[in-house]
Amino acid sequence: MKVTLTAIKADVGSIGGHLKPSLPLLQEIERTVAEKGEGLIIDHALTYTGDDIAILMSHERGLDDPSVHKLAWDAFIAGTKVAKHQGLYGAGQDLLKDAFSGNAKGLGPAVAEMEFEERENEPFLLFTADKTEPGAYNLPLYLAFADPMYNAGLILSPAVGKGFKFTVMDVDHIEGDRVIELCTPEEAYDLVTLLRDNGRFVIESIHSRHNGEIAVSSCTTRLRNIAGKYVGKDDPIMLVRTQKSFPATGEVLAPFQIAHLVSGFMRGSHTGPLMPVRARTGVSFFDGPPIVSCLAFSIHDGILSKPVDAFDHPFWDWVREKASRKARDIREQGFSGPAMLGYHDLEYVGITERMNRLEKRFRVRDMDEV
Ligand code: 13P
Ligand code: 13P
Ligand code: MG
Ligand code: MG
Repeated sequence: MKVTLTAIKADVGSIGGHLKPSLPLLQEIERTVAEKGEGLIIDHALTYTGDDIAILMSHERGLDDPSVHKLAWDAFIAGTKVAKHQGLYGAGQDLLKDAFSGNAKGLGPAVAEMEFEERENEPFLLFTADKTEPGAYNLPLYLAFADPMYNAGLILSPAVGKGFKFTVMDVDHIEGDRVIELCTPEEAYDLVTLLRDNGRFVIESIHSRHNGEIAVSSCTTRLRNIAGKYVGKDDPIMLVRTQKSFPATGEVLAPFQIAHLVSGFMRGSHTGPLMPVRARTGVSFFDGPPIVSCLAFSIHDGILSKPVDAFDHPFWDWVREKASRKARDIREQGFSGPAMLGYHDLEYVGITERMNRLEKRFRVRDMDEV
């Protein structure tokens, strides 16, 4: 059976600042999806990471289906009403447009979507992150799909060993989707040249070179490009199919043990380690650190299994301690150097305004003054 997975996430309000959504807000979103989704979608699941709520839907209506996207939009609108009623912070934060216009992409919510013929056994992972940006998945995806140090399948499995095709988007280009396709292993160095720049080049999808099947769909939304100003970080969502001609689930999870440094954290303007957490974890330390959670599903005839919480394991407690230490180390130096993002990526105008004022007070000393 040909099935489509549509994952849409938005921040529509949270308790006590940007920490986590309320139960009534989640219940309203769940109720709306269950009620309005009847006859439209086959199955759904709801999760949240930090203050971002993700709706996963399975259906047979294909990619970019307006009715499926509208279902998620309506659920977030219904949730926003509850958030306003409860006085939650940032109620409706990610719903940047007043009305739905055919596709949730470009209106604020982040979308990851893939359509495929279900395999006999169909495992996949739903990643959702908070206090970071879509490029945060660049390094873990590269390591899981292109580096034999993380993916032994590249040498052990002939199918995986055929390599992968990466589609990368230049998210700085706002006039349209500027993309490039690069194949590993041959073009690995070209790919890395782009992927080092998480703020600009973002992996949009990955396909198997063995059978052309889609393995990864990741969101590339930049809220700033839509709103024209900072309204929150682009906390990203991603779907990854695993096993057989794709990396094993454990190979996709493994690179997250690095807790690599990403952009986001406090006020979306700092650098911090990406901490793998249990689903439904909030944030705390400097509105962070940046967090990522992962639910592992199996699907058959469009029906989703109960998910396994992939980072709910003693191994990841150790990683969380390491990430906490890295978070403390970099936050110890406050605004200095790499702890705060450079001008281009700063999410607030305060520094630019201040700099504009100070520029006028600078003067170049005359040589005879010296
Ligand atoms: P497969 O049976 O899909 O090859 O899985 C084996 C495996 O994932 C061991 O890590
Ligand atoms: P969110 O993008 O998760 O709402 O966080 C905004 C922020 O400024 C945190 O300090
Ligand atoms: Mg928020
Ligand atoms: Mg968020």
